[in-house]
Amino acid sequence: MKVLVIGSGGREHALCRTLGRRGAGVAAARIFCAPGNAGIADAAVCVPVGATDVAALAGFAEREGIELTIPGGESTLAAGLADEFARRGLAVAGPSREAARLESSKAFAKDFMLRHGVPTARYRVASSSAEAREILRGGEFGGGEAAVVVKADGLAAGKGVVVASTHEEAERAVVEMMEGGRVAAEAAGRVLIEEALTGREASLLLWTDGRDYRLMPPARDHKRVGEGDTGPNTGGMGAVTAPDVLDEETLARCVREVVEPTLEGARSDGLDFRGILFVGLMLTPDGPRVLEYNVRFGDPETQAILVRLRSDLSEIFGAVARGGLGSVPVEWGGEPSACVVLAARGYPERPETGARIEGLGEAARVPGVEIFHAGTARAADGSLVTAGGRVLGVTATGPTLDEALTRCYDSAARVRWDGLHYRRDIGRCK
Ligand code: AMP
Ligand code: GLY
Repeated sequence: MKVLVIGSGGREHALCRTLGRRGAGVAAARIFCAPGNAGIADAAVCVPVGATDVAALAGFAEREGIELTIPGGESTLAAGLADEFARRGLAVAGPSREAARLESSKAFAKDFMLRHGVPTARYRVASSSAEAREILRGGEFGGGEAAVVVKADGLAAGKGVVVASTHEEAERAVVEMMEGGRVAAEAAGRVLIEEALTGREASLLLWTDGRDYRLMPPARDHKRVGEGDTGPNTGGMGAVTAPDVLDEETLARCVREVVEPTLEGARSDGLDFRGILFVGLMLTPDGPRVLEYNVRFGDPETQAILVRLRSDLSEIFGAVARGGLGSVPVEWGGEPSACVVLAARGYPERPETGARIEGLGEAARVPGVEIFHAGTARAADGSLVTAGGRVLGVTATGPTLDEALTRCYDSAARVRWDGLHYRRDIGRCK
């Protein structure tokens, strides 16, 4: 089979490696990645086409005889990739643009949850900063000293959510989003004001072919840049999968109260939802609440999840695209896993690029470790340099989560570049 993966991060490197793993269904020479990165080039043939250039991607897939396309990120789906591929009769394992609105419009997602009885935080939608201010001053989300959440409606690359500790801070966030250019104008035409929830967070991901679904091991992400969950939000500084992320009973409750009503809701709304559903959950004392939907794999959750997969990923994604997911084997190794992200100085605000990366060979030899590339490139002299904020994802499984983390940190300690930083408390904080 010839497979095309779309994207250029650690998530896509993990996808390409897992597709090409020994014993898997796809020979490495038949895996293509657009546009890929310096690490992906060892696992796939990189194709210099951008992840949102839908027409060029479809043209490439037709010419090359690609039999299955796996979109990595949300921007590809929001650009209508699945619709265009379906129109040309190309198999694609991702949702239509309309179904992808579950991620690309938070107002659409909230309205969907309300209609289908999926538990989530109370919210209001505002179309101007004056309206948002009025909602805040109306007091329905507590008085001025209460925490409240402000969210841009559209895709904002991790910058669209502010958990404000007072209403004054929330008003400032509204103005920054709607008038101050904090997020792209098309993402902030509307904002949501939302009740602030408290509890532990968990990410529950699944594959669906529109009929059946298969769960992945629940994961926990660490979004803040600093140890002890401090500093600005990032795309994710690390992720773990372990039994205590979501115990059996809570998982069953999330499936019953969230997963099944969501998939049934999508069907009854006539949304063509096939691909990955990623539910961001807050486990509150009153039960699970959905923070957000994503319609794709998470990064770095993917890295931590896929190192545990024992089954053939191409077969799973093939069934996602064509149907029949219910009868495909989806088996997982029982060991917990962890991924620690190594980032560049200045990430997330203004990451520095071009620093020479050293020690990678030695780091990769730590037993049980896999290193996935995110922002890496080859310099003119062939050396490996940083090319983005999140640079590498050091990933391992272990008999316990602690041992998996020890492997990751042993390996990370051998990597060097000017400005390298990472959190030392992934999987260990809270
Ligand atoms: P989202 O992109 O919607 O997942 O939001 C990013 C992060 O903001 C989440 O992982 C939470 O940590 C936080 N967050 C979002 N919504 C809420 C909420 N209603 N209450 C408390 N925290 C929230
Ligand atoms: N790590 C969070 C995300 O991919 O959305």
